[in-house]
Amino acid sequence: MPEAATAGLASTAAPSRDGAAVNPLRQGLESDRISDPCNIVFFGASGDLFKRMLLPAVYSMHLKGMLPEKFGLIGFARSDFDDDTFRAYCRTQLENFAPPDQKPSGDLWNEFAKSISYVCADFKDTKHFEDLRAQLEENDRTLGTAGNRIYYLATPPPVFPEIVKHLKLAKLDPKSDDRGWSRIVVEKPFGTDLASARALQAAVERVFNERSIYRIDHYLGKEPVQDILALRFANTIFEPIWNRNYVHSVQITAAEQLGVEQRGAYYDNAGALRDMIQNHVMNLFALVAMEPPASSDANAIRDEKFKVLSEVPLPAIDAVSRVSARGQYGPGTIDGAAVPGYRNEADVGLDSNTETFAAVKLTIDNWRWAGVPFFLRSGKRLARKVSEIAVTFKPIPHRLYGDETDAIEPNVLVVKIQPDEGIALRFEAKVPGPKQHIRSVYMDFNYGTGFGVQSPPAYERLLADAMRGDQTLFTRWDAVERAWEIVTPIQEKWQNTKDFGFPNYAAGSQGPQSAFELFPDWRKL
Ligand code: BG6
Repeated sequence: MPEAATAGLASTAAPSRDGAAVNPLRQGLESDRISDPCNIVFFGASGDLFKRMLLPAVYSMHLKGMLPEKFGLIGFARSDFDDDTFRAYCRTQLENFAPPDQKPSGDLWNEFAKSISYVCADFKDTKHFEDLRAQLEENDRTLGTAGNRIYYLATPPPVFPEIVKHLKLAKLDPKSDDRGWSRIVVEKPFGTDLASARALQAAVERVFNERSIYRIDHYLGKEPVQDILALRFANTIFEPIWNRNYVHSVQITAAEQLGVEQRGAYYDNAGALRDMIQNHVMNLFALVAMEPPASSDANAIRDEKFKVLSEVPLPAIDAVSRVSARGQYGPGTIDGAAVPGYRNEADVGLDSNTETFAAVKLTIDNWRWAGVPFFLRSGKRLARKVSEIAVTFKPIPHRLYGDETDAIEPNVLVVKIQPDEGIALRFEAKVPGPKQHIRSVYMDFNYGTGFGVQSPPAYERLLADAMRGDQTLFTRWDAVERAWEIVTPIQEKWQNTKDFGFPNYAAGSQGPQSAFELFPDWRKL
């Protein structure tokens, strides 16, 4: 193995291809080579997502020896490539976007390049889908990919129904093409509102059944998100207190420092509620609040996620302002540098009514959670990038310690998703010395030091699961639909009432004042 690749494997704790993983901290981390042969077709292979996320993830799997031995990667896009120029393009993009220790080189790259081919295509032309079928059949013959296909929709969402329709017309749907299995991976956003999500679902399910549909939410591929279930159900001490008797409130935050970057045109039609709350944050909410599943089977888990979402009462339109807050950033300062306000970003209207910050209060009508508020927030251009879930427990019933000036804070359990990955428990401790002063301290677990590894990127995990046929970390239609139902009243209210106070928070701040009126106890960003 070339030196550069070996160095890369060491720092990401991948199982080395010569099987020489020695660090005892890493025991149990090895991921086996995926056994089923497969082709993966990337629709939109000349786009941003492919070059920044998907291609580096697949190449990293190759370096770690995870890809099936019989594997084909087909790019399908409008750009004018042939197989060779597309391979060269992939190599350049890996040089640009793969981590420093996973750059393409030597035999490992050459071996990978052999699996790559390209179909130059118009998404509306059945003939190009016939070209795709010919390429897939050739891969089956030359690479031994056994009729197994993953169709990955990494195009802008309006094209999704068109692609699915043409797969069927070209007899690439699972019913006509039954030599192996066929799966479809659908990128977010799954619809832009409830009606369009239902229409997209109708288009996809005409061709693929639910067992073959993999709806991506990349938050579910983040290690600490997966660990929420392990924390709850592989331990005995948390579940007995995970309910209304002990929990005061839960807050879920997905805060970003970035603005809308080059995506103003998309974002100005989306906003924080649809871009983040309806999907990523709602998935975190469901994992924290769901009942224990009977097994770790994908549908057992997804049944519980849907069930808890279905127990969230929908806000009445006239109650929207009592259960939500919205914001839009104005100019401000991020890490010492001045940045423009949202309305001055490229492709954003000068009087845009789009929210770049959303906060929502949800409740759950069930035995476990009656009366416990869940606060969800997400926003761009905030003080810090941080995603976390904080479970705040009830205050002590009777004070014994500390003088009157000592605040005795409630316990808080924090699942840290990013940039730090870990779990922290805040509790009160006596300050050393003769007096009875009490202060908050943290027990802090960090994945990096705990396991001696960096977590693999979310896309790597999700692609591997799609290849293995494991749907656990993909969102099922019933939950997607329910999440849309929950946000719809808020979305409609916001869409139909202009917020004349926008912009209402400065870039680099803690968010709008209205969020603190909704919930004064947000953790500091
Ligand atoms: C995407 C949103 O789904 O998630 C982006 O469309 C957002 O607007 C991104 O920036 C955040 O992902 P992460 O992994 O950086 O928290």
